[in-house]
Amino acid sequence: MTEPPNGVVVGIEHLYKQYETAAGPVPVLKDVNLEIHRGEFVAIMGPSGSGKSTFMNILGCLDTPTRGRYVLDGHDTSALDSDDLARLRNRFIGFVFQGFNLLPRASLLENVALPLIYAGTPRRERSERARELLERVGLGRHVEHRPSQISGGQQQRVAIARALANRPSLLLADEPTGNLDTATSHEIMGLFTQLNAEAGITVVLVTHEHDVARFAKREVSFVDGVVTHDGHVREPESAT
Ligand SMILES: Nc1ncnc2c1ncn2[C@@H]1O[C@H](COP(=O)(O)OP(=O)(O)O)[C@@H](O)[C@H]1O
Ligand SMILES: [Mg+2]
Repeated sequence: MTEPPNGVVVGIEHLYKQYETAAGPVPVLKDVNLEIHRGEFVAIMGPSGSGKSTFMNILGCLDTPTRGRYVLDGHDTSALDSDDLARLRNRFIGFVFQGFNLLPRASLLENVALPLIYAGTPRRERSERARELLERVGLGRHVEHRPSQISGGQQQRVAIARALANRPSLLLADEPTGNLDTATSHEIMGLFTQLNAEAGITVVLVTHEHDVARFAKREVSFVDGVVTHDGHVREPESAT
């Protein structure tokens, strides 16, 4: 695999997205320009409805822009059909959702190994890798458990392990702490911080909480589909 120039993992240029609805087109993202380099830890912030999830879904190749360019790890996604996008997603993206999205009837080991099946990894290697990842997120002793037998914070750890299965270039998380209490949220953010600092994994996550964003190194804020801030993580406006 050739290294993209300057270690740019995400290159977004003049990106627009509108949804076609019965009531007509709804513009959601308006001329977004952004570059994310390997090893960055970015918090995407902004009020509800500002386009954060739409943006993340495009980053994760779950959706496509209406206009503009998205280059993922050196691959221009605009020319790709949905099969090619799915392949790109499996190879380069790990996605963590607010609701964990684990398979309830599968063991933790099977959940984490699932993306490796799609990637064609041999069975033995799948289970070794899944075990190793569960150890890395602190769940090495629970590999045979079902998701319902562990806590929400632990389930999110499993989802993070699963997202890392194919050694993605980009770890994306859309409000990963949205269903968790404050203490557990901080533990999960500690895990993202550790993965970023120790393994150099590029992390982009959405939150609307400042105490969650504080863990990141860069903050990108959206208001009404426009980037209004890109730089240091800001302190919250004084509480009233
Ligand atoms: N599939 C869709 N069809 C039509 N409108 C949508 C769709 N998904 C999201 N929207 C609208 O796009 C805007 C941005 O949504 P979203 O990206 O989910 O924002 P956020 O994640 O910041 O809350 C909202 O006004 C939302 O109602
Ligand atoms: Mg959202």
